[in-house]
Amino acid sequence: MGVKRALITGIRGQDGAYLAKFLLEKGYEVIGGDRRSSDGDYWRLKALGIDKEVKIVYLDLLELTNIMRVIDKYKPDEVYNLAAQSFVQASFEQPLLTSEVNALGVLRILEALRVFMPEVRFYQASTSELFGKVQAIPQDENTPFYPRSPYGVSKLFAFWITKNYREAYGMFAVNGILFNHESPLRGLEFVTRKITYGLARIKYGLQDKIILGNLEAKRDWGYAPEYVEAMWLMLQADTPEDYVVATGETHSVREFVEIAAEVCGFQLVWKGKGTEERGIDQKTGKTIIEISSEFYRPAEVDILLGNPRKIYEKLGWKPRTSFRELVQIMMEADLKLVSSQVRAHRTL
Ligand code: NAP
Ligand code: GDD
Repeated sequence: MGVKRALITGIRGQDGAYLAKFLLEKGYEVIGGDRRSSDGDYWRLKALGIDKEVKIVYLDLLELTNIMRVIDKYKPDEVYNLAAQSFVQASFEQPLLTSEVNALGVLRILEALRVFMPEVRFYQASTSELFGKVQAIPQDENTPFYPRSPYGVSKLFAFWITKNYREAYGMFAVNGILFNHESPLRGLEFVTRKITYGLARIKYGLQDKIILGNLEAKRDWGYAPEYVEAMWLMLQADTPEDYVVATGETHSVREFVEIAAEVCGFQLVWKGKGTEERGIDQKTGKTIIEISSEFYRPAEVDILLGNPRKIYEKLGWKPRTSFRELVQIMMEADLKLVSSQVRAHRTL
């Protein structure tokens, strides 16, 4: 068999970059779908040293004919649909756009595949946000869904339409129900990276504090490079099935802040309650964490905790990085990043 060709939508995102690197190392030819933006900066691909190796094509999930032409031209063996409006908070402000991309966008790809490449293997980036107001703890493939945001609801449509095309047309179309996964390449709006980048900037005197929302929310946080391996394994399986991908541990935003602050060398103590609560560095007496209702969600997902037993037993996948190691990797990467930004600024 010749070189396998994979199409990854959302190539500029965190998972797009890690998946591209993983597939290139496996000998794949990687076509990266980019919706096109004015900056044209592939900083994540550059950070992984693969910006020259990925063939970039313009591919916007809003435009059916665009998707059809790309699929017809490149005829990929595997399609990984990672493109999405992926920020839950923004979905409350842009519910229609979020649904156009995350729900109908998936149907557009499936329709194009049904016409041009029904034999393709298709991966849909489903999410633990489907469980939302959780109906059981921990959550697995049999736990009922209860999404809590326009993002979650849009991904619910995507989950079911993927399953429907599998059942109706016999397509190899699967859902990876991935719990939160983070890395130094995570977007700055997500809470983990907001914390590690913000603390690194405080350390270097570039900002005074970070303003956060709900510190009690709990997430099952894993390490992104390991999660893209699970995506690939799902498409190599003998039968198309949906899988939960998670660590099996849950931690609060507060715990994340505490470990990150410790790695950073702060002595964090909490004072006050609710939106009056403050995180103070005992060494300097300065407030480094504040709380604002601006970052609370209209409807919150209080706790996510996944049970990854099925993917371990059937496909042999399991997480390798602990929660503490994850925080440490992200915190150290941001300290290095901010230090290099400071040095670059000084030499200007
Ligand atoms: P991400 O960093 O936000 O990347 C998403 C990518 O989708 C971005 O590069 C974005 O392009 C692109 N995109 C947005 N609208 C588009 C459109 N209309 N057409 C084509 N591309 C579009 O997200 P991620 O963390 O890598 O996550 C990848 C996927 O997994 C997403 O579908 C997300 O919802 C899902 N997921 C993520 C997690 C997680 O914890 N990371 C967990 C479960 C599921 P720009 O770069 O131009 O903005
Ligand atoms: N973003 C953000 N900013 N979140 C905050 C903040 C803040 O200042 N303060 C507290 N949080 C809380 C949120 O209320 C939420 O409960 C939790 O931190 C995590 O928020 P995010 O990091 O924005 O991620 P998410 O869990 O909403 O969504 C991510 O994971 C999903 C999988 O469960 C995204 O990657 C989604 O695309 C993904 O599907």
